Amino acid sequence: MGNDFGRGGCHADLGDEGTGMLGNRWMVMTVLVVVLAGRAGGAELASDRVDVHSHARPEMVRVTRVDLDLTVRFDTKVLSGSALLKVERAPGAPDAAPLVLDTKGLVIESVEGMASDRKPLPLGYELGRDDPIKGRALTIDLQGSTTVRIVYKTTEKATALQWLGPEGTAGKKQPFLFTQSEAIHARSWIPLQDSPAVRVSYGATIRVPIGLKAVMSADPVSTSAGGVFRFEMTQTIPPYLIALAVGDLEFRPIGKRTGVWAEPSVVAAAASEFADTETMVASAEKRFGPYRWGRYDILVLPPSFPFGGMENPKMTFATPTVLAGDRSLVALVAHELAHSWSGNLVTNATWRDFWLNEGFTTYLEQRIVEDLYGPARAAMERVIGWDGLQKELASFAPRDQVLHIDLKGRDPDEGMNQVPYEKGALFLNRVEKAVGRETFDAYLRGYFDRNAFRSITTGDFVADLQAHLLEGAGPAAQSIDLHAWIDEPGLPKDAPQPESDRFAAVDAVAHSWIIGKTPAGKLATTDWSTYEWVRFLNDLPDKLPAERLAALDKAFGLTDRGNAEVLHHWLVIAIRNEYSPADSRLESFLTGIGRRKYLMPLYAELAKSKKGRARALGLYDKARAFYHPIARESVAKLLAVPSRAERGPTPP
Ligand code: BES
Ligand code: ZN
Repeated sequence: MGNDFGRGGCHADLGDEGTGMLGNRWMVMTVLVVVLAGRAGGAELASDRVDVHSHARPEMVRVTRVDLDLTVRFDTKVLSGSALLKVERAPGAPDAAPLVLDTKGLVIESVEGMASDRKPLPLGYELGRDDPIKGRALTIDLQGSTTVRIVYKTTEKATALQWLGPEGTAGKKQPFLFTQSEAIHARSWIPLQDSPAVRVSYGATIRVPIGLKAVMSADPVSTSAGGVFRFEMTQTIPPYLIALAVGDLEFRPIGKRTGVWAEPSVVAAAASEFADTETMVASAEKRFGPYRWGRYDILVLPPSFPFGGMENPKMTFATPTVLAGDRSLVALVAHELAHSWSGNLVTNATWRDFWLNEGFTTYLEQRIVEDLYGPARAAMERVIGWDGLQKELASFAPRDQVLHIDLKGRDPDEGMNQVPYEKGALFLNRVEKAVGRETFDAYLRGYFDRNAFRSITTGDFVADLQAHLLEGAGPAAQSIDLHAWIDEPGLPKDAPQPESDRFAAVDAVAHSWIIGKTPAGKLATTDWSTYEWVRFLNDLPDKLPAERLAALDKAFGLTDRGNAEVLHHWLVIAIRNEYSPADSRLESFLTGIGRRKYLMPLYAELAKSKKGRARALGLYDKARAFYHPIARESVAKLLAVPSRAERGPTPP
């Protein structure tokens, strides 16, 4: 469905960045699209549709199905086996057009197609130059074949894979492997067309050591005692959603279609933390249309998982740091679940359209949070988002402040900041305000239906918005400056700034302590949630004497907090003020948690002073073997040390 070439090759590029009168520019594009759709054939792609992060030429020859047969070897830390790809040639494409795939650090052992007598046919292939971001193109001379079998193995350069020894897990007995394919890491463990516009269905046979279980972003089809797990994903998804985890895993149901997977010692805590998941699914369905993926399970990973969550279809991958014990961080589940509509069902066609994934999802997440936990909590979340965005906008170059960002020549992981998330969500809040919530909900529902199982560009979205919402809406909606929102830096003046009464109260409490009016022990903090604590810590002045920090610490046990969200904010303050009682907690945090969002501010704060930088290097040296390659890369870049050469083995 999402793979028809007519759609893939049909958009026109007007090449008119900044012609003004924007609502109309998008309209012109839509009309041209329709005109050109019948003629463009398979060979032309409008520039907005070109994925600069992939070598593939899907407008010529496109992969539609992937079947994996992989053996997981923990002793060598290698995945090896085969990928069987089904391919389709675009109607207008020349017969000689090769199949071009993306690979990163893969060793290709053989490539064969199928001759017309159905016998295996060795195919000529070539591995291109190694691009530091995109990796190497694998160009295959198809000789008319429509299936291709590639025998290959991964190497230590597989940026998607984290191989953990038992010490990196909760149980400390069995090893663990997980993948993180977004944005462009799928190519480091599967040779495929690693572009979000190339949707595929997939099947997999995964062979693991006896005693371990494998899970994927797919339906389990069969399991054998001998460690062979088969999976099937019949719906088409972008390659960045192909995911695998292998370890000592146990399942516990939460609701009729929801459950948790985790190591045995974690599964009970996970089931209790995520008890609201079934209600969240129902809440999202009520507004945004049916949940189309069957089951929704959450896999809790070891603490080195580099993200908070990853929306792998049917099975969100999540950090254990979300297990705060009081369900205070479950907005993360609302977020990853919301991707089942925005992202997994309707997918960004290229990484410049990433805000379509994350801005929509942040908006949906806030709506789910509001529905389950009330407007006060949703308001706090929005304010935190707003503040984070303001901070980044103040420090970003103008070109990095736009939603429809140009990422040419850059790693798409660099696009992961507050702009696509929070500016994107504000834009949707702005539209919601103009047309009213009910009308906007109806529009969103239609948007997901119309574009289900498709990968779309920012231009496609704007055309859809014009045609299905704005044209029929009143002048208030039509006056929204779409161009300013989508293509210009900063925030348009009509950005709806969120407000929170609870935060106003927190600010008053903080102020009273800061001016010395109320001692720490007397502050009114009893009913504070994570959000209030984060706000309080953010309210504090940059510089505070050690004895004042000690007083706060004594009253509220901040250094001993188990809640990583609160703790990492506290540790930043501790570093800034050289508050040494937190030193050992900082060390255990940085060597025990690999979530990039927490690592980065801590290392950044350390790196501000000469002494701190030396300490950061020492800590990184201790911790790096435990970090996922993606987190390692980010920290190494921040500290300006090489990450590749340093990439040591995971600790014994
Ligand atoms: N899809 C993202 C994670 C991602 C983005 C991975 C880009 C790689 C490249 C996921 O949905 C996400 O946004 N996770 C957030 C949590 C969320 C509550 C904002 C995270 O990991 O911090
Ligand atoms: Zn997300």
